[in-house]
Amino acid sequence: MCGIVGVLGHNQVAPILVEALRRLEYRGYDSAGIATVNKGALERRRAVGKLVNLSDLLVHNPLAGHAGIGHTRWATHGAATEHNAHPHACGPVTVVHNGIIENFRALREKLAPHGLSASTDTDTETVAMLCAYHLAQGLDPEAAVKATVAELDGAFALLFLFEGQEDLMIAARKGSPLAIGHGDGEMYVGSDAIALAPMTDQITYLEEGDIAFVTRAGAKIIDVNGQLANRAKQKIETQATVIDKAGHKHFMTKEIYEQPVVMSEALSRYAPNGAPAFPEALDFSRFDRIVMVACGTGYYSCLTAKYWFEQIARIPCEVDVASEFRYREPPIAPRTLAIFVSQSGETADTLAALRYAQGKADMIVSLVNVGTSSIARESDLALAILAGIEVSVASTKAYTNQLTLLALMALACGQQKGVVSDEQVATYVSELRGVPDLMRQALKLDAQIADMANALAPAQSVLFLGRGAMFATALEAALKMKELSYIHAEAYASGELKHGPIALIDPTLPVVVFAPFDRLFDKTVSNMQEVMARHGNVTLITDAKGLSEASAGTQNRLELPITGDLSGPIVYALPAQLLAYHTAMAKGTDIDQPRNLAKSVTVE
Ligand code: AGP
Repeated sequence: MCGIVGVLGHNQVAPILVEALRRLEYRGYDSAGIATVNKGALERRRAVGKLVNLSDLLVHNPLAGHAGIGHTRWATHGAATEHNAHPHACGPVTVVHNGIIENFRALREKLAPHGLSASTDTDTETVAMLCAYHLAQGLDPEAAVKATVAELDGAFALLFLFEGQEDLMIAARKGSPLAIGHGDGEMYVGSDAIALAPMTDQITYLEEGDIAFVTRAGAKIIDVNGQLANRAKQKIETQATVIDKAGHKHFMTKEIYEQPVVMSEALSRYAPNGAPAFPEALDFSRFDRIVMVACGTGYYSCLTAKYWFEQIARIPCEVDVASEFRYREPPIAPRTLAIFVSQSGETADTLAALRYAQGKADMIVSLVNVGTSSIARESDLALAILAGIEVSVASTKAYTNQLTLLALMALACGQQKGVVSDEQVATYVSELRGVPDLMRQALKLDAQIADMANALAPAQSVLFLGRGAMFATALEAALKMKELSYIHAEAYASGELKHGPIALIDPTLPVVVFAPFDRLFDKTVSNMQEVMARHGNVTLITDAKGLSEASAGTQNRLELPITGDLSGPIVYALPAQLLAYHTAMAKGTDIDQPRNLAKSVTVE
């Protein structure tokens, strides 16, 4: 998952490219580079590490030119070094790439006899070499790119720039997103509309297999069959692309604190009059079972929803991570609804799993935060989770809005299948409508959670426990702790503890227990007491009733407001997020761009 951008401008493009790359850093940030055509010659500047290092380099070693391409990298092949940074070049062509070329080694073997040998560890350099080969065979740039793309296996978004061509960029899309921006006598290409927002809100999205030949006069697009394609030009809502921290220290805290507001927006859209309101096409009476597929945090929102669909709507619900689902190739029975959850809408594994389900499931519904994303466009129905742009790599507000929609979907399912009465639905929806205020109460515990986090920071590992839907909350809490603080963390269904993991318990292992005072509370407390009987270090996250019943012997306690079956997992996510955030702050790790990660994993 990398970010790519290109500009055919009137003036110097280097600053425009760098600003666009800043907006794409969420896609990867272990190195960056730009290339321009300057007086006919191709020139490059590249730097390892964050984009700021490239900016600094350009101050001392500027790059002129009115046509250029740029890239911010999340390494797939080859370490994060300047030498492996994009753009890659070979002879008269330079290229930037998002994705993976799976047959690059075979292509290198084909090119070696023609005097073309790789000097980097990357798959992308092979693309430049192959294009240079076709140019050397006498093909013009358009024909050379077509011939190149035809030989590539894998997933890619590519952008080519050519020596002597001050008014040409060629873009190719297969499996990774690409957008074309229309300016006033200028043209742009980017991984998404966010990157191009400072220049234009007039966007054309390339489809799978498209190749676009871009000049300042516009873009000629051919489809996967080589036929001219007429792709719509859309006006993208520019306010959706405003990216700032609104006074917060990090995007993550901004997005954590936005949760009450964005959840209210989701409730207004999907339960405007106290009942679930989804498009008519989503008729749950058509289905006898549900399959839910996602990755990471999205997977944990699906795991949570499994409890709701099965307990409230009484419909069997299978949940799987996309990378397993797509290769397990599960049989999909008739009358199956397949739900795919993805904040970015571009996660390669989830998109591939969706494509596996196409033609097998009776309906494919996606929950996305980017309405123009690939997953949205390939679904029968895409439901916007309305969380607003989520910049921080660690997902927070998208998670709780995913839960909000999934809870309402479970209610709609139960209602449409006649399993839940209108009165029961109204009661559940009323519970959900109260959640934003409960979130605000939970956010008031921020300072107390920060103190708890200081005690966690020295830990080598953290164990999270929960039962029922709180087990999914514990899993999400463990993911947040891992990806933000780099401390190993894992989660267990608390009933599982005695089947092995309890061997881990000693005073040095912090154990965090999510236990609202519900029908599983006593069982969870029994497991918690098993931990304390072995001198375990327990933090209990519960409510006033829970504290009065079970705070004895715990090291730390956090009192959340009283919650119910639907509101619990949503509200309890906030202390999980804040605990990870403050532990990371105590450790000094990078909050919004943790090491090794990227916001959108558009490669396998
Ligand atoms: C969440 O905090 C992680 N950054 C990661 O697990 C993420 O949820 C996962 O990569 C899926 O992303 P998506 O929702 O955009 O598909």
